[in-house]
Formats: sequence, structure tokens, C-alpha cells
Amino acid sequence: MGMLRADIESLEQNGITGIALTRLGDPDVIPLWFGEGDLVTPDFIRDAAKQALDEGYTFYSNPRGRPELREAIKHYLARLYQVDVDVERITVPGSSMLAITMAAQMTLNKGEHGLIVTPHWPNIDRAFQVTGASFSTVRQRWSEGGWQLALDDLRAAVRPNTRALFLNSPCNPTGWVMTREGQRELLDFCRQRGIVIIADEVYHRTVYDAEAAPSFLEVASDDDPVIVVNGFSKAFTMTGWRLGWMVTPRRYATQMAVLAECFNTGAPSFVQRAGVVALEQGDALVARLRAQYRAGRDAVMEILAAHPRIELATPEGAFYAFPRIPGLRSSRAFVEGVLAEENVGLAPGYTFGPGSDEHFRLCFAQSPERLRIALERIVRYIDSHGL
Ligand SMILES: Cc1ncc(COP(=O)(O)O)c(C=O)c1O
Repeated sequence: MGMLRADIESLEQNGITGIALTRLGDPDVIPLWFGEGDLVTPDFIRDAAKQALDEGYTFYSNPRGRPELREAIKHYLARLYQVDVDVERITVPGSSMLAITMAAQMTLNKGEHGLIVTPHWPNIDRAFQVTGASFSTVRQRWSEGGWQLALDDLRAAVRPNTRALFLNSPCNPTGWVMTREGQRELLDFCRQRGIVIIADEVYHRTVYDAEAAPSFLEVASDDDPVIVVNGFSKAFTMTGWRLGWMVTPRRYATQMAVLAECFNTGAPSFVQRAGVVALEQGDALVARLRAQYRAGRDAVMEILAAHPRIELATPEGAFYAFPRIPGLRSSRAFVEGVLAEENVGLAPGYTFGPGSDEHFRLCFAQSPERLRIALERIVRYIDSHGL
């Protein structure tokens, strides 16, 4: 004891991993607990990585990312959002999770405060906690029309020493998608207050009525206090590749080069080569995934949302449902029960921040047949336990 910093010593495992580790890899379980489906990354991306290995892309490269990948990201963003992002703003440190950790480290001092829009992915807490800063949450509001963030709630939650604000749109777990107008208003406020927005846009392609969700890159100028985090995991079924990027204000270019070097000295070279191919040739894949996720969402709405004990609005983006069972005593006991009796892996609501213990989260990116079986089992559990 006493060897570790107190902020590290007090870290607790998040509730998703906590339950998943108990039955990980068990073939009897239909796993809806993690943020991924059951499709292997397609051939055209795997082939690019194999080819890169055969060609000898096994060395260190630029810690901020290989030049051809940073260029490819620039072009991808231009195509998707009609924005001209200077490559000096783009860094590819490794995974999006690493980018979030770097963003937190870059912005929060000990004694300062970070604000997180909740319900939220629990790893964000941990990334903020290890900075030594304090953090609190501001909650999206639920109505039958879906989840929304009220700017007034956010204004009220900001403290004099708030330095960073984390938000994730499209949102894991709620499916909330921030509007462009909402982004503009929030950015105005954060400019005035000197708060850096850490905008997690990893689900940018998982929206159902557009090619991509609105991005802060469309409303922010080169030197606005915005760090946009994005990645390959969700858009291109590449969760195991650990590849993501961040777009930072222009004036941070030198510091980004230094930071990238000491965090991971760049992502694996051959993985980056595959990343270029995913960005350049991935549109058909994105369209296929969107169709599958839409079918998954339909099944969730048909089977779960129709249930009298469940409150659930149609998720606008991402591939999660975050249903509420009003009066549920413990989301943890609930997901443990569903796992033990029905062999379906869910994530407990409590781990997504304060106010979520009547919820559970499921990922509907699984193939439709397995998903339907899982949903029916969840309903059977709720009914047989009189919840
Ligand atoms: C909101 C959010 N941000 C970031 C990530 C991390 O993505 P990556 O696999 O690129 O680290 C996830 C993964 O589930 C996520 O849900």
C-alpha cells in the first residue's frame, strides 16, 4: 500500500467488464454486453494488413501517425463533412480510448474539474480520474421522444474551475445525437468559459437517416477549444485493431507530437496501412452495417419497447438500447439474473453514471437471429420475475 497514487489505487473496474469477465467466451451466452457485433473485419481490410506485413511495415513510424493515414483522414473528413482540416491537427495515437485518455491528460490539472455528459461509457470516468482532477456529471433528459441534453442543465453544472467537458454523440448508451444547432450553442458557451470540449464521435457513421452524425468539426474553427476523437472500431468493425484518431486545435501541433511519442509512439504500422484502405473503400461496408443495425434496432423496438414494463425511445444513433424498468431495485442483480437464467450478457445501468440504476444496456449489433432469441429471453426473465 502507499506505492500507487491515490487516484490509481481507488480505481474500480467498470460494471461491464465486471459482469462480462464472469462468462467471457462461454458459447452458451449471447453476448450483448460489449460495443461490438459478431462480424469479423471484412477481407479487403484484413488483406491490406496482411499485405503491409508482407511488405515489411513492421517498423516505428511517425508517432503522430503515418503521413498517408493522416492524409487519408483529412480526405475522409472532407468528403463526409465538407471541412478542410489541416493535417497538423490530426494525430493517430492508437485507439480512440487512448485518444480520450490523452485528451483528459492534456486538459485537466489536479484540483480542476471535468464535466461528463451522462449516461456515459464508464471508461471516461477512469480516464478523468487518473488525471487527479475531480469530475461530476450532467444528465441527459429522457422523454418519449428520446434523450436530449438541456444546455441550461449543463450551464448549471459547470463550476468556476471546470476545464474540460466530455460528450459522446451519437451516444453510448442512450443513442442521443446532438444537433448542429446544439453543438453551436455549446461551443459558444465553452469559448466564453474557457472550457475544452472533448467530443467523442466514434459512432459518427452509426446513424440511421444520414451518412454521418453532425460533427463538431463542422462548427469549430482551427483554434477553437475542441478535441474531436474518432476511430475505426465502430464504423468499420475493427474493434480489435486499436486504431483511432484525434483532431486538436492547430496551436497544439508541437505538443501533440511530443505526447504521441510518450503515450504509444504511434499505432502499429501495418494496422495504419489497413486504416487507409478502410477509409477509402469502406462506404459499402458502412451501408451494410447500417442496414443490419437498423434491423437490430427494429427488433429491439418491436420486442422490448412494446413491453408494458419497459421504457424505451427509439435510439437515433449508435447501436445500443438503454431501456428502463421503472422501480428496478438493482441493475446489477438484474443483469446477473438474466445471465444466470437466460444466458444473455447485458451491461448494468449503474455503471453508466448516476441516475441509471433502473436501466440496462444492450448492444444490438449482433446478427438478427441471435439478437431476437436474446430479446425474447430478456422478456421472459422480466415476466417470470414479475419485474
Ligand atoms: C463512447 C465510446 N468512446 C470510445 C470508445 C473506444 O473506442 P476504441 O475501440 O477505438 O478504443 C468506445 C468503445 O466502446 C465507446 O463506446
